[in-house]
Amino acid sequence: MKLFSSPCILITNFKGQSFPSLQNKDGSPLLYDRIVCDVPCSGDGTIRKNPNIWNNWNPGRGNHRYFLQLKIARRGVQLLKEGGLMAYSSCAINQIENECVIAQLLEESNGGLELVDMRDKFKGLNFLPGLDDWCVFDTQMNQYKDYSQVPENRRSQICPEMFPTEKTKTLKLDRSMRFLPHLNDDGGFFVAILRKTRHYESKSAAAKISCDIPLGDSTKIENHNLKFNLTHLRDKKPVLSESFGGFKQFYGLNVSEENLLRWSDCEESLYLVSDGLKSVAEHNGHIQATLAGCKMVEKEYRNSAKTKLRFVSNNLHLLSERISKRILTVDRKDFRALVSSKPVAMESLSTETIGRIKDLDYGEILFRYEDILIPTFVSRQKVEAYISNSACESFKLLVD
Ligand SMILES: C[S@@+](CC[C@H](N)C(=O)[O-])C[C@H]1O[C@@H](n2cnc3c(N)ncnc32)[C@H](O)[C@@H]1O
Repeated sequence: MKLFSSPCILITNFKGQSFPSLQNKDGSPLLYDRIVCDVPCSGDGTIRKNPNIWNNWNPGRGNHRYFLQLKIARRGVQLLKEGGLMAYSSCAINQIENECVIAQLLEESNGGLELVDMRDKFKGLNFLPGLDDWCVFDTQMNQYKDYSQVPENRRSQICPEMFPTEKTKTLKLDRSMRFLPHLNDDGGFFVAILRKTRHYESKSAAAKISCDIPLGDSTKIENHNLKFNLTHLRDKKPVLSESFGGFKQFYGLNVSEENLLRWSDCEESLYLVSDGLKSVAEHNGHIQATLAGCKMVEKEYRNSAKTKLRFVSNNLHLLSERISKRILTVDRKDFRALVSSKPVAMESLSTETIGRIKDLDYGEILFRYEDILIPTFVSRQKVEAYISNSACESFKLLVD
């Protein structure tokens, strides 16, 4: 997600089943247009790439996953807007982790959810329709016709809702998609696309309990998150905002400071944040996140630098239209030289480029090749690109 370099992205790592309730500016619940629930599963569709799964697999693995999968999917549909779509997917191919979860969601929704017919949407991608009938087994491969047959000691892994009924046949489960390994010569996968047709009160008591999850009650998967406490540039740390004024002037940067925010505990960097995401930040100040927006500017540690801040290379293309100074457009040969050696010796560049560097004066210069912008520091003898070695390798592939 980070590589998308989008100012609209907020990354959290809450558990799906207790994803917190956020709110809009007016206090109404923040709901989503699109949700993907790619749930944890037994992985029995992946045995081609991971044969060990088959050694240890038994139906109990799927049964146990069902409960968590249903909780995650329930929370997903609760957070979906009316008319919104949710993809439920798993890399399992047994029906308990797939059609059975979807059937339960549809049943609980009282008609508030429907499966979207995806036939003809993916030309050349082969799949089979979802099934509306399946068998229920336990860990030992004992099969049960109905719940009354399930012994007490198996009831923690098998629940009454796992058994298909006559109603199951009316749910149009054939609209879900079963990607079996031999159909496209890849792994097994299941996908169902659900549309929320209207808001509904779930019929299930369990679903009702999980419905209202305030921020404080949600559980994180790990606890090393940052507080989603984006602060305006002008707040608290004058040093950064003063440096930013000079930085803007240096590069002729035309960007609203309203959209460049910083984390409270990461004071030295600025993040480009869309208006929508900024509003989420302002009205849900206590959510914990691993990333919001994309990092654009960070502190410059080089003493000889002309500004106290520097651009972060990964996301710089987002601002390329808004920078009017200190850009040097180079040809393919000079670009190749720049990404082939860090630092690159001045004499490896063309005389034309060297001349234009002199015109600009040494110091921080942005090298542009087509739509790629690379921040550099240029001294008399060499040019040092501020990019990672892996980015250099990728750029080299691009121009070779
Ligand atoms: C099938 S994988 C998702 C893979 C992902 N879509 C990707 O492309 O990398 C399921 C993921 O769910 C995570 N997970 C496990 N329990 C979870 C929970 N309660 N809530 C949310 N995610 C969970 C697992 O760590 C695993 O990374």
